[in-house]
Amino acid sequence: MDMILKGGRVITASDSFIADVAVKDGKIVAIGKELSDTADKVVDVTGKYVLPGAIDAHTHMAMPFGGTVSSDSYLSGTRAAVCGGVTTIFDYPVQHKGETILGLCGSKDEVLKEEACCDYAFHCCITDLNDGDILNEMEQAVEKGITSFKCFLVYKKEGMMVDDGTLARLLLRAKELGAMINVHAENPDLIDLRTEQFLREGKTSAWYHYLSRPEFVEAEADKRVVHLASHLDTPVYIVHMADEEGLEACIEAKKKGHDIYVETCPQYLEFTCDVYKREDGRNFVCSPPMKGQASQDALWRAIKAGLIDTVATDHCPFQSYEKDWGKDDFTKIPNGCAGVENLYPYMLSAANEGKLSFEKVVELCATNVAKIFGCTDKGSIAVGKDADLVVYDPEKEFTISASNMHSDCDHTIWEGKKLHGYPVQTYLRGQLVYDNGEFVGTPGIGRYIKRAKYSKK
Ligand code: URP
Ligand code: ZN
Ligand code: ZN
Ligand code: ZN
Repeated sequence: MDMILKGGRVITASDSFIADVAVKDGKIVAIGKELSDTADKVVDVTGKYVLPGAIDAHTHMAMPFGGTVSSDSYLSGTRAAVCGGVTTIFDYPVQHKGETILGLCGSKDEVLKEEACCDYAFHCCITDLNDGDILNEMEQAVEKGITSFKCFLVYKKEGMMVDDGTLARLLLRAKELGAMINVHAENPDLIDLRTEQFLREGKTSAWYHYLSRPEFVEAEADKRVVHLASHLDTPVYIVHMADEEGLEACIEAKKKGHDIYVETCPQYLEFTCDVYKREDGRNFVCSPPMKGQASQDALWRAIKAGLIDTVATDHCPFQSYEKDWGKDDFTKIPNGCAGVENLYPYMLSAANEGKLSFEKVVELCATNVAKIFGCTDKGSIAVGKDADLVVYDPEKEFTISASNMHSDCDHTIWEGKKLHGYPVQTYLRGQLVYDNGEFVGTPGIGRYIKRAKYSKK
């Protein structure tokens, strides 16, 4: 045995119990009481919790957006990930019009081979079917283990938007291939209409970012996606759900047996649209925006009822000077916030405060993600799985600040947030990569995850 984590409380999606966890060649090889101590390394984790590494299903590292590029490189973004207990990220490479998707993901893979500090997979964003060539190429992508694709129903001027016909073609083709389509759902025409009106009236503060895309603007698109997927009888995964009415449509369809998956993000669980009234409101600008209290309450209710499938971050940071471009015009603020290092600590702190169970957090942030997206070796503490392990100290008090984060970003929307409990160690396939506040891994240690095809849970 290479290592034993001894005496901790092991948390899975369905259970929690005191046990030792033994690791050999990067895999979990035994779980049990009083395993023999004949390992090269024995770590006493009495009083601590042992959790599977989180899988952040939604990140944008080095993503071109709004005239710049999101500030975390693959190196700094994956470094931040492991420091927050995330051992696998899903990145979203975005196809430029005319580009092949294998070429696109291949070029990202080249960079990640050198820089990745955690394991990684791709949801490839399709913006153009290239006269149908992409529908063919999707088959090769699936063979290479890229078994999910994304489309944006917004971001027309950024050249990323697809229309409903393209979405429908992608849904049908993905079903044929055993793949999933992830959708960013907001209504672009309503956003344009409202934005033009606000700018004409001189209403340019960050608050109007929210008012240009409030609840009903997201809900319309959520409902459209659910309607299409239900009638076409295809699975679909709606990313970053933030509004109550759209969520209700998803829940209704789920209850009828449709294959609808819902992801939300910590920022929607913590903040409401009131943040856009703050002096630093532009730092919170992301799309979809934070919504009102009723939506936040609905998200928490759905989480507790098991009607939300995953929590992921939509990590997409920009530096303050870039956010400042939109001081006098909300349309010039690059959209997105940092979060990859906050996902697990935030959700686990909520569990520590009794808001939900630790098992539920493991399910939402690791086990369900692995199941939905075909990461067969990941997402739980079980014999044969990768030894992606997080040691969590439920007594450690931690206050989030830009200065104790590991992202390449000079601010955080989580500044000053007090957490009860915090990860103290992260192991990636048995190797220590984060230790008590410090990144101790090596860039390039992360591996590409070849994923299995989608099959219904
Ligand atoms: O504001 C956001 N979310 N930026 C990243 C791109 C996206 O929409 O996911
Ligand atoms: Zn999005
Ligand atoms: Zn209908
Ligand atoms: Zn995103």
